Amino acid sequence: VSEFDEGGVAVIDPGTGRVVAHHSSGGTQPTGIAVSPDGEEALVTNSFSGSLAFVSLDTGHAELLPLPGAPYDVVISPDGKTAFVSVSQMDQVAVVDIGARAITQRLPTGRRPRSLSLSPDGRVLAVGNMTQGSVTFISAADEPAVVGHGPTPAVNLRGVALLPGARQAFAAAQRAQNERPTETAVGVWSNQAFLVRPNGGANGDANLWLDFMGKDVAEPEAVVLDPQGQRAFVTCGGGHSVNVVPVRGSGETLTARNVGAQPKGLALRPGTKELWVANRLSNDLAVIDSDTLQVLRRVNLGVATKRDPAMLGEFLFVSASLARGQQFSCNSCHPDAGTDSISWKFVHVPDGLGKETNRNVRSLLGSIRDTGPFRWSGHAPSLDEFVQEELVGLFQGTKLEPEPLAALVGYLGSRPLGPNPHRSADQSFTETAERGRALFAGKAECGTCHTGPKFGGQRKAWIGTTPEGVELDVPHLTGVFDSYPYLHDGRAPTLPEIWSKSNPRQLHGKAHLLSAPELADLLEFVRQL
Ligand code: HEC
Ligand code: HEC
Repeated sequence: VSEFDEGGVAVIDPGTGRVVAHHSSGGTQPTGIAVSPDGEEALVTNSFSGSLAFVSLDTGHAELLPLPGAPYDVVISPDGKTAFVSVSQMDQVAVVDIGARAITQRLPTGRRPRSLSLSPDGRVLAVGNMTQGSVTFISAADEPAVVGHGPTPAVNLRGVALLPGARQAFAAAQRAQNERPTETAVGVWSNQAFLVRPNGGANGDANLWLDFMGKDVAEPEAVVLDPQGQRAFVTCGGGHSVNVVPVRGSGETLTARNVGAQPKGLALRPGTKELWVANRLSNDLAVIDSDTLQVLRRVNLGVATKRDPAMLGEFLFVSASLARGQQFSCNSCHPDAGTDSISWKFVHVPDGLGKETNRNVRSLLGSIRDTGPFRWSGHAPSLDEFVQEELVGLFQGTKLEPEPLAALVGYLGSRPLGPNPHRSADQSFTETAERGRALFAGKAECGTCHTGPKFGGQRKAWIGTTPEGVELDVPHLTGVFDSYPYLHDGRAPTLPEIWSKSNPRQLHGKAHLLSAPELADLLEFVRQL
């Protein structure tokens, strides 16, 4: 099992449940893990530092292949020769020659690919695109190629598993009711699963409502199927539960509650009824009987030496119990403190934007503590006030007491920004970006508003995107490449579209005076911030 906070891999004897070794993963925030068919090495994605580690299970030595862009999950072909890695910030799957320790191919996916499912014969790979809420199907044998794409009406598609025969995939996701204002917290989000096939309909072949199973099903995460493909097991990180969902919609649904704090990874131990669940925040595993859903055993991974001090705050951030109806958490709109890339009509914020304006979700990465005031309008002077306003107005819950409030605010303010995959390998700006930097400060006049160490967050301005007189907080730009779409209402899907379509009055700096190559340089600078 990968140890996210520790930067390690724990090796466990499944018979006794004993942790027999801890190895370093050679990087930070390891997520996906796959063991070679001969059992000699584990391949691990270091999602934060951006590498694929080949960890010898004998010596514990980790060899690293740089793979910038938040690599998230990894699977290995049955012959042990090829690995597939989802590179979530690059919208790609990297094909890796394991023997040569080299990337041989990069295949395009939908936005933010994360979970992977490879058919047992190694012929079909399903890729769950988290932000796009879709599944990319790849023919994985011989010459790997994309063969189709299956949409769903949801986002936050965190788990995917191929059905036997590999013609369809079972995918668990969250569906946003964001076309109407958030009058009530119930139904703002629903938790759903879909059967998806390549180039199938927008609703998939079947649409299963996990919320009908009762509470504690928020934020479906990983999915595995039983060998017959009849029952799906789904961890729900926001409900701290594991759920059994009949794949074709009929049959028994069951929920195991209080499995651990934020259950994520999941595996069925071959030849047994044991379901092994990795609980990220409690740093332990629960072994569950897949028929009765009783917890048979717990495996403690030991005290992490690099525990995140903001862990209590993160527990509150991911827990759906703060919301009336318990269908979502902060993490639903800000997955892993980033953004789900959709917009919401808020009724609870008395600022100039009103309840019919789409509000683009903002990323919380990059230590936002010193970027106040908060919200696009700058209506919230501090994070404390902001959080209490959301808990009462959006979650329709109660305000937090001082101690948990401080923990949650501590978490919000302290999220680090990962390395930027668009920069040079040593994280310096490329030559193109350096030319863009000069334009940013000079001819394009961006620096007059986007000031300070984070390139914004220090004053208000009007650039013609809101009714005259409604000024917005000038947003900070660090990490902006990864927080698409753009502008307060999300009207610009990509960075170039901020100036091509969304700047009708040409009030947004002097970008309209740049030549096409100059604009490309400027955008490259912004992308590398
Ligand atoms: C339904 C989706 C949704 C949920 C749930 C949600 N947020 Fe947000 N968040 C947004 C949107 C939309 C914005 C922009 C709001 C605005 O400008 O008024 C935002 C903005 C923020 C900001 C301001 C960032 C900045 O730089 O100005 C913070 C901080 C934040 N959210 C934290 C949280 C916390 C903490 C929770 C849980 C208590 C939470 N959010 C729950 C959608 C959501
Ligand atoms: C007059 C002040 C001003 C100037 C000059 C200015 N900006 Fe902005 N910028 C803003 C404001 C205000 C917003 C938010 C607008 C909105 O959300 O509708 C914004 C938004 C942005 C965004 C989108 C951020 C996000 O998270 O969605 C980017 C990127 C950006 N500006 C880059 C630039 C660049 C590059 C230049 C120079 C060409 C520039 N800005 C010049 C005020 C300014």
